[in-house]
Amino acid sequence: MDLVVIGLGYVGLPLVREACRAGLRVGGLDRDPRVVAGLTEGLSHIDDVSAAEVTEMLEAGFQPSLDEAIMDGARTVVICVPTPLSEDGGPDLTAVRGATEAVARHLAPGMLVVLESTTYPGTTDEVVKPLLEKSGLVAGEEFHLAFSPERIDPGNPVYGVHNTPKIVGGLTPACASLAAAFYGKFVERVVQAKGTREAEMAKLLENTYRHVNIALVNEMAVFCHELGIDLWDAIECAATKPFGFQAFRPGPGVGGHCIPIDPNYLSYKVRAELKHPFRFVELAQEINSRMPGYVVDRAAELLNTDAKAMNGAKVLLLGVTYKNDIADQRESPARPIARKLLQRGAVLSYHDPYVDSWQVDGKDIRRAGSPTEQADLTILLQVHSEYDLDSIAANAHLLFDTRGKISGDSVYPL
Ligand SMILES: NC(=O)c1ccc[n+]([C@@H]2O[C@H](COP(=O)([O-])OP(=O)(O)OC[C@H]3O[C@@H](n4cnc5c(N)ncnc54)[C@H](O)[C@@H]3O)[C@@H](O)[C@H]2O)c1
Repeated sequence: MDLVVIGLGYVGLPLVREACRAGLRVGGLDRDPRVVAGLTEGLSHIDDVSAAEVTEMLEAGFQPSLDEAIMDGARTVVICVPTPLSEDGGPDLTAVRGATEAVARHLAPGMLVVLESTTYPGTTDEVVKPLLEKSGLVAGEEFHLAFSPERIDPGNPVYGVHNTPKIVGGLTPACASLAAAFYGKFVERVVQAKGTREAEMAKLLENTYRHVNIALVNEMAVFCHELGIDLWDAIECAATKPFGFQAFRPGPGVGGHCIPIDPNYLSYKVRAELKHPFRFVELAQEINSRMPGYVVDRAAELLNTDAKAMNGAKVLLLGVTYKNDIADQRESPARPIARKLLQRGAVLSYHDPYVDSWQVDGKDIRRAGSPTEQADLTILLQVHSEYDLDSIAANAHLLFDTRGKISGDSVYPL
């Protein structure tokens, strides 16, 4: 194999596709038998990769496997396994360690090993390197080691693996050059960082920047409502400044596998090593995680203006995925919102073109037949392209728009 990708998920599978297109012989290792069986049959479990593309990949020689022996003789191995949070909110590197130990069992002289999983600065050097060196081979001398953050934006029709600049940081300059040459086969622009720590930090800087700026406008949304200021309009005005301002918009909370999780990796590192908090991240976390509760409070307020109690009111949630036009529900704020609405006695239903059935704390939530189904209150959480917003606005009895996309008489923005 030219390449073996470990972890065939949202990050690993698009990487396999691009490498296959570039003519590389690609193997894939995953520990989930359903993932491997599905891919072997030509099915995709990832929004951005179609079944037809999986078939193309298989025709190009892609071999999905549960057997780590697929790494034997591989020239490059890229690790794309999950980096979630542990019970106490710190980094959980179990999957990274597991995958690295598997690589160590099949490491051969000259191999390039790249970590793509998002993680705190120092992981490649302090965690991955020693585990690989248990093989008896020395990193930077007998095999090559690099970190390259994945910047994939699921559902983005413009930017994918091939045209999003790829950062690589090597353990040594030779490791960096080799990693840059590897990605250069299928990525238009490769950017070399000074080292692995800088490459790890670049990814966390990007995500922390988003997290903090989203928190900034979320906090503003809360007090602008109190002050009677239309923040959405203010943002559109500010966004006309051609320099020095990037528009972020408020919402019902942050979701997905990255923004709510990655900055915690950085604050963990700062706390663990420097013994002081990373205050921006902790503040952003606090503000963003309060948004679902705020949405529910505003929902109760709106029902109240209509002389209705939340208890017993029919509430319809539109869009329960963490972002528009994809099926991924990881960390979606829709779930804590639903949980709080149920706790207050709302009779809940949802509609989402990407979600056929939806459970909250094990309870099945009824799927509405259409986004215009009648309810005492409709809450727009996610604006999927196929939603006809005019029709939703015209038909809703009372519409709470947490995305600031609709105007109208009975429409209330966040
Ligand atoms: N999803 C995104 O938008 C995104 C964007 C940028 C970076 N990332 C980062 O990329 C990494 C992977 O995320 P993802 O979204 O692709 O995850 P994912 O859950 O979609 O896929 C990960 C895959 O790895 C497999 N796996 C877990 N442990 C394994 C092991 N020890 N050996 C082999 N396979 C194993 C799982 O079965 C799963 O199929 C994370 O660090 C994430 O933070 C994700």
